[in-house]
Amino acid sequence: MRQAGRYMSEYRELRQKHSLLEICRTPDLATTVTLQPVRRIEVDAAILFSDLLLPLEHMGIPFDFVAGEGPAIEKPLRTEADLAAVRRFEPREALGHVLDTIRQVQRELAGRVPLIGFAGAPFTLASYAIEGGHSNNFAHTKALMYGHPAAWHAFCDLLADLIGDYLVAQIEAGVNAVQVFDSWVGALNAPDYREFILPHTRRIFERLEPLGVPTIHFGVGTGSILGEIREAGGDVIGADWRTPLDEAWTRIGFDRAIQGNLDPTLLLAPLDRILTATDEVLERAGGRPGHIFNLGHGILPMTPVEHVQAVAQYVHQQTHI
Ligand code: CP3
Repeated sequence: MRQAGRYMSEYRELRQKHSLLEICRTPDLATTVTLQPVRRIEVDAAILFSDLLLPLEHMGIPFDFVAGEGPAIEKPLRTEADLAAVRRFEPREALGHVLDTIRQVQRELAGRVPLIGFAGAPFTLASYAIEGGHSNNFAHTKALMYGHPAAWHAFCDLLADLIGDYLVAQIEAGVNAVQVFDSWVGALNAPDYREFILPHTRRIFERLEPLGVPTIHFGVGTGSILGEIREAGGDVIGADWRTPLDEAWTRIGFDRAIQGNLDPTLLLAPLDRILTATDEVLERAGGRPGHIFNLGHGILPMTPVEHVQAVAQYVHQQTHI
């Protein structure tokens, strides 16, 4: 999950001097930020500091982050011809700085906790490229998907190839697990997921399987498609807070691990309420092996850092880790 960020004063301090993209592209800075939550929160794993959108630029889709608005793609893809014009790239060259960050983080961690690498999944990456930024209904994305299925499938095929290349390169550089973020795929119902996304995402997981590194498949608002997400792949399936953890795990199947699922906005509540909700998540996990306690989505910038520390400490205490 996104565990580094603006809720931490040490991150805000660095952001006064450097843009988000500068931090992502500078291994020294990205390493520093990757390690911030490991030191401050004592989380059990580090997640590479980078951003899901970095590959877009090298596909000929330039973007920037606009303060207060999030990502902004310069020229969103809106036609079949736009989709067909997207370029391939070699991640070892174009995103070599990410691989350098991985090597540097691993030297500094020296085995203290594992490092998780990541990339965006086809639907989520396609939705940024097509919508141009944040969207509530993914109207442009779905219009292209339904209207030009052949172009959509060719585009997702290319995305799956590139994401696969990028994750393989991250694994070769030394990450201990990879997370595939399909943050916005909950916008699809089960038949559409099956038709337009499942084959592409499955190809990414099939490619990673022989490498023997654990994989996490994450989405938000996916309660009704957890079975399909499981079918697409992932040793661990992410679940958000809308579905109680035990129900989500039943839908996923207990032969897979689960990650989740505290509501990140609960971290804004008084501490006793936060710990009660944490207890509920742990109770629903029932002490079964294969539960990664996590938030159901990213930490909000206004979150008090002490609340995040308290939850991590409490989960460690309750689960004797
Ligand atoms: O915890 C970490 O160290 C992980 C770093 C990380 C970032 N982005 C840095 C970042 C990770 C894992 C991501 C993934 C990412 N990026 C996702 C998938 C995860 C999810 O939240 O669903 C998505 C959808 C993106 C795209 C993205 N990047 C958005 C929508 C935004 C704006 C969000 C906001 O709150 O403004 C970003 C910016 C971004 N990427 C920030 C961070 C820490 C915000 C902080 C900043 O502007 O400095």
